[in-house]
Amino acid sequence: MKVDVLLGLQWGDEGKGKIVDVLTPKYDIVARFQGGPNAGHTLEFNGQKFTLHTLPSGIFRENTINVIGNGVIIDPAILIYKEVESVKDFCNIKDILLVSQKAHLITPTHKLLDYIYETCKGDKKIGSTLKGIGPTYTDKISRDGLRVGDILNPNFKQKYETLKKKHLRIANAYDVDYSDVKLDGFTLEEYENRWFLAVEELKTYNIINTEYYLNEALNSKKSILAEGAQGTLLDIDFGTYPYVTSSNTIAAGVCTGLGIAPTKIGRVFGIFKSYITRVGSGPFTTELHDEVGDMLRVEGNEFGSTTGRPRRCGWMDIPLLKYACMLNGVTDLIMMKADVLNKFETISVCNKYNINGVETDEIPFDNEMEIEPKYLEIKGWNQEIKDKNLPVELSNYIKLIEESVNIPITILSFGPDREQTLIFDNFK
Ligand code: GDP
Ligand code: IMO
Ligand code: MG
Repeated sequence: MKVDVLLGLQWGDEGKGKIVDVLTPKYDIVARFQGGPNAGHTLEFNGQKFTLHTLPSGIFRENTINVIGNGVIIDPAILIYKEVESVKDFCNIKDILLVSQKAHLITPTHKLLDYIYETCKGDKKIGSTLKGIGPTYTDKISRDGLRVGDILNPNFKQKYETLKKKHLRIANAYDVDYSDVKLDGFTLEEYENRWFLAVEELKTYNIINTEYYLNEALNSKKSILAEGAQGTLLDIDFGTYPYVTSSNTIAAGVCTGLGIAPTKIGRVFGIFKSYITRVGSGPFTTELHDEVGDMLRVEGNEFGSTTGRPRRCGWMDIPLLKYACMLNGVTDLIMMKADVLNKFETISVCNKYNINGVETDEIPFDNEMEIEPKYLEIKGWNQEIKDKNLPVELSNYIKLIEESVNIPITILSFGPDREQTLIFDNFK
């Protein structure tokens, strides 16, 4: 068996949580491979809505094991007090969740450093979710990090204090007054108390070498779906650097984030919205600053699942979609939020860029460069989507995208609920 992957092709919030939940009945195991509580994955079914940050989106389906892989970073206070608390009446989380010993821990002072670094950037700020993502991955790479397996070690508190001391030395070197800073609404001391209580609780979970578990599962013919967080354009190597997150969000991240060999990757489901959004700073060629952008935001309810911030909205950008498909080896496309375009008379699609008078669809290195998007205008469908008998204009839109990237769209989503999903006959 091979590991299938589902990941975002844009700047995140494509609807990964919803589709992982839809596909979970086809898999024995769902595994997160990177990112942390900067993610907000929304699932809706039976009139209920859940937002997951660290937990994989397979937790609501019976008989599925969910894995938090080594590439993920975990804030125990968020995992235990926010997420587990919100789902505890709907699943027996300890029975279905496995946590990697090698996943790194986000500590309270990682969050503090995130705040300080962002503050110092002034108008060049990334627009981070301030969940401590950058500083935690930094410590992982600089070999100073704390891992989940460490919490079971008697000298954990000592290791924690050493790291905290380092963080406070860095914090004090900056000209930022952090004495009144609130971390998710708590003072540093309050957050630390919650964090240690959450660590005690985390000790009672199944903490294992998930790389052995996953490879043994493959050998015994179990099926695995790897769930991405963020999106390709936020990838640390290939995204719109420096306005990115701090992990590899692309398919390659599955190998390092779960301990899966490249030869064991199967289908790659690339998920995108029928338009495009971004939350936080950074370049955005097709961004709309007018009433059309406002209409996309209102129709699409484009407000961040993690921070509540309004998302920036714009038209579909085919050069970016092609780039994302190339980097990930996408085999199936999944188009989300088609319903958001139901009321549009015309829809624009950027299929080329004009850079200094030259037409191209290659993404330039310098992302502060002036890029003029060239648009195709197509007729909207101006009606509700109900079933597989799609309005002809929507079929044409689908065809245009499929032909542009040369990959089939096999699933279409037309509402936030699990049921508002069309799985086409070409989904094998
Ligand atoms: P994720 O981070 O990729 O899991 O996406 P988010 O959950 O952050 O954002 C997607 C938002 O769109 C959520 O509020 C979903 O409930 C919602 N959503 C998902 N699919 C659709 C769809 O097809 N139509 C509409 N209108 N909303 C959708
Ligand atoms: P999901 O998984 C959308 C953005 C932030 C910021 C940049 C860096 O729900 O799609 P970070 O907190 O990682 O330091 O922020 O990345 N960002 C996301 N945008 N969806 C996400 O996750 C995101 N996770 C991070 O807004 O611009
Ligand atoms: Mg999200």
